[in-house]
Parts: sequence; structure tokens; C-alpha cells
Amino acid sequence: MDYKAIRKPEAQKMKVMPNLADYEQVSKNFRWEDIHKELDWLPGGFLNKAHECIDRHAKGSRRDKLALLWEGKSGDRETYTFGQLKDETNRFANVLKGMGVVKGDRVFFFMERVPELYIALFGALKVGAIVGPLFSAFGPDPVRDRLLDSGAKVLVTQPDLRRRIAQILPTLPQLKHIIVVNKGQRGPNPLSNGDLSYEALMSDASSSFDIAKTSMYDYSIMHYTSGTTGKPKGAVHRHMAVIQQYATGRWVLDLHEDDIYWCTADPGWVTGTSYGMLAPWSNGITQVIYEGGFRASAWYEMIQKYKVTVWYTAPTAIRMLMKAGDEVPKHYDLSSLRYINSVGEPLNPEAIVWGLPVFNQAIHDNWWQTETGAILIGNYPAMDVRPGSMGKPIPGIEAGILDDNYDQLPHGKEGHLAIRPGWPSMFHTYWGNQELYNSRFRKGWYITGDRARRDESGYFWFVGRTDDVINTAGHLVGPFEVESALIEHPAVAEAGVIGKPDPIAMEVVKAFVSLKDGHEPSEQLRNEIMRFARQKLAAAVAPREIEFVPSLPKTRSGKIMRRLLKARELGLPEGDTSTLEED
Ligand code: PRX
Repeated sequence: MDYKAIRKPEAQKMKVMPNLADYEQVSKNFRWEDIHKELDWLPGGFLNKAHECIDRHAKGSRRDKLALLWEGKSGDRETYTFGQLKDETNRFANVLKGMGVVKGDRVFFFMERVPELYIALFGALKVGAIVGPLFSAFGPDPVRDRLLDSGAKVLVTQPDLRRRIAQILPTLPQLKHIIVVNKGQRGPNPLSNGDLSYEALMSDASSSFDIAKTSMYDYSIMHYTSGTTGKPKGAVHRHMAVIQQYATGRWVLDLHEDDIYWCTADPGWVTGTSYGMLAPWSNGITQVIYEGGFRASAWYEMIQKYKVTVWYTAPTAIRMLMKAGDEVPKHYDLSSLRYINSVGEPLNPEAIVWGLPVFNQAIHDNWWQTETGAILIGNYPAMDVRPGSMGKPIPGIEAGILDDNYDQLPHGKEGHLAIRPGWPSMFHTYWGNQELYNSRFRKGWYITGDRARRDESGYFWFVGRTDDVINTAGHLVGPFEVESALIEHPAVAEAGVIGKPDPIAMEVVKAFVSLKDGHEPSEQLRNEIMRFARQKLAAAVAPREIEFVPSLPKTRSGKIMRRLLKARELGLPEGDTSTLEED
């Protein structure tokens, strides 16, 4: 079905004038150096994300402006001004410095969305550490893989989460310190042998700190992301990424001084840091953080209670709101909302059309990746929305559609979505895997791994991924990671994992499992393997469905043919099976 373009609101009906009022004009002679001037920088030309996001405001007119409005799972509330954040992050920076943490050390976080996560992460940036936030729903395996690969020296966590991963902690030779934040617990911090109490360390720490002299090229943050083969890789970003996070906060999220902004993503994934920390705070904007998970009524209530004006969420969440029905939003006053954005998966036109009467506006889709560090393609308030399209490249970005030889295709043709390298928030390496990083660049382009097409007006349309990576509810899941966990179960001989289409989550993880001799398929065994995987990985990553099969299709070189499993699952033609190993 073809959806008509949704015309941009007439200027006089807009509540505020868009920051990017004339896309074509700004794009025309754009230079990133002009944005450099809008940041504050440290004396001597140094750049640090924590300075741009916190200290810059704390030393100026935003000192007493609210930076963070936090609501916990059980309804408790806390607020922090930029001035308070400066003091708290300075304290944590002193804590780390006292432990001997220096520039380049990896400091990781396995925490819920609590204020201490934000404080500790920016404190670590102030010392020049490379920070790594981990999704709090992970089980022990993904946490171990990431801490081991990054060689993290410090882990900041909370009592319940620490308990969940207790068995892996002694297996990490480089992990020197575990700091436990006693949030949400009654009574004293239940510290294990050798753990340090966040509260005790912070109460002794000074609130003055000189930010480390980090250059724009120094590493600041890493996020693990899944590929087709092997375990997830750490995409490493530099302090200069903040230049683009700041700019896209203005252009794409259209942040204005008086906005109340809510990004629903968890900082364990890149959207939760680039747009749940860096973009709003580098713009000096007040943001809301909700620790609780998804519930339609709770989410509408957040918007109403905090009078959220700009909202950044994901297609799965919007589809879950749709599923909850049209009656629920009628009980809430959502009139504060003036601008809504979505990312992470294709935003289906039906979701935009559903949202029109509910939110009284179009939801604006945009596109980017962990590797890109910030939005590269987006819909803007002063541009018509073509439902189903990701929009147009931000100023300063050249996007292309390439054939299999990495040459450009004309408009209308489908091919590899590629970007000309050199944007400020571009990742700089995969941690310890420069070869894989290099393989992402061909003929002067960064190859995104997505397929797309561009229409005659320059709008980009997402088609699909070129690899086996699964996108479930906006989270990328590497099949290899899931298969590795499954085969650790004593009854499992082999496992092949695919993404199965799902109306809400876009895809869910489905595993095909063959059993070792002496084990028979049964409902009980299926549930047991499912529980096993969930406990090791995370509910979001573990298979939602398991099908027992006598054997898995493999290439002659022994690689599981996931493509074939998927084709069979969907009842599609099996394609080229010439490399298939015969049983
Ligand atoms: O396949 C694309 C999909 O999500 C991938 C990036 O995921 P990740 O690295 O986890 O980054 C999440 C932060 C955006 C992309 O390669 N994707 C992202 N945005 C869209 C999308 N697919 C379709 N439409 C989008 N707007």
C-alpha cells in the first residue's frame, strides 16, 4: 500500500521554529568545523564529553537548571541540576583517580537506569577512561565476554546484578576493582569480599577535579555490537563524537532550551548513551529518565507527569502502544508532546498513521548504527514525512547506494547503503580487531551492512540487512552468540539461530536444535533449554522459540546455513544450495 506524504506543519502552526529550518541551505556549504565553534572546548584545544555535557553548563547560566528528572521503578523521584552533576561527577572522578585509573583504562558499568550510572559514567570520562555500559538484563555470559574482551579494570554495579554474575568475576584477570552502588536496597551495602562501596568512596571524595587533557581523537566510549560471525565486537568512539551528537540533537531531535526530553533507550545500547546522555546534555537540555520497563499506561503517564515535549523511542515500543489500544492514551494528557522521533528498526507506515491522531503529529524516523555513533539519516521537522522512509542524510553526510562491486547505483535501485567516511562520530576501531574494522570500508565508502534505496527526491528507504544479524525489538543479536550458549547445554549437539518475523518486535530469535545421542525431543527438554539460554544470556537475546531437528543444513566446510533455515521457515525458495553438504 502507498502512503501519502505527510506535509510538514505550516510554520505559523509550529510551537517553535525548527533549528534546521532550511535543510537544503544548511547542507549546501556545510563544514563540520563550523559546529566545532559551538562547543566550549577545554583550554589548549582539548575536548572532553563530560565537560561539554556538564561542566560547561555548570559554570554558566545553566548551573541551576535541571539536567535530570529521574523516576525509579517503585516511584521514587530524584532531580539533579547541571551544577549538582558537576560536583557528583567530580567526586567519582576523584574516586577513580585514587584507585589509579588513568587515561585509556576501561571502566565498565552493569547497572539499571539509576542516576548513579550517569554520574559514574561521566565521572569516568573526566579521568579520561574509556567507558563501557552493559545492558542490565544480560546474564553472565554476555557480561563475561565483554569484560574479558575489553580488559576492563573497574566494574561499577549494583547488589542484585553483582549476584547474577558472581560466578564469572573470578575469571577476569584484568578486573581490579568492583564498586557496588547500594541503590534500591534497604540496609547496608551487601558487599562481597574485596568489593568497594560507592557510597563510602563518594562521601570521602572531593567535589573539585581537573578534567584529564583528552584530545578530540582520544577514545571515550565503547559499545559491543553483534556481527554475523564471532562474539560481539566493541565499537570504539572518540571524544569528538560529541560534535555530531550535539548537532543532531539540534537538527533531528530539534532540541530547544525549554524542552523536557525523554529517550526511552537503555544506556546498555548506543541510543541510550548517544541520545540518552550526550545529545541532550551537550545541548544543555533537561531530560527525564525512567528506570521502569515498558507498560503502555506507565509510559503515557511519564509524558503527562513530566510534560515531555520531545520524545525519542523505537518502533517496537510504538507497536506495543498500538497493541494496548486507542482507549489507553485517551486517559492521559499528551498535549505537551511537540516532536517525536523513532530509531532502531524500520518504522512501519501503519505506526505513523496510527500515531497521527493519538499524538497529533507524525512520528519522525531516523537511521544510524552503533558504528556511526550518531544519526546519519533522518526526517526533520521542516520537511515532509514520507511514511516508511528513513529520511535524508544530515548535513555533512554523503550516503550512497552501491552495487555488489561497491559502485554507485542510480536513484530507485536497491543496493548496499554506504556512507563517505569522516563524520565526527564515526567509530575508530573494533576493540582489538582492526582487521574487521578495515573490512567495513570499500572503494572509499563505509559499508553499513544494510540494504536500501534512494528515491528521486533523495529520501532513503530501508530494505533489509545483508547479514544474518537479528534485529529484535531494536536490539541486534548475533546468531553465533546464541548458538554458543545453546551448545553448552548437555543435551544439545548443534544449534542454528535465525530471526523469525514478528508483528511487534520485528523479529524474534528462533533456534533450530539437534540433540546428542541418547536425548529425545520433548516439551520438557525444550523448556529446559529455553530456561538455560535465558539464564546465560538475557530474555531479550535468548530464543523465543526452539525447534528440534534431526540435523542442521551445513556447507561442505561445516558452516551452518542459516540462510537456508530461514528460507525453510518462511516457505521461501531455498536459493543456491550448491555448497550444501549432503547427509
Ligand atoms: O539494520 C539497521 C537497523 O539497526 C541497525 C543498527 O543497530 P545498532 O547498531 O544496534 O544501532 C542502534 C542505534 C540506531 C542498522 O544497521 N536500523 C536502525 N535504524 C533503523 C534501522 N532499520 C530501519 N530503519 C531505521 N530507522
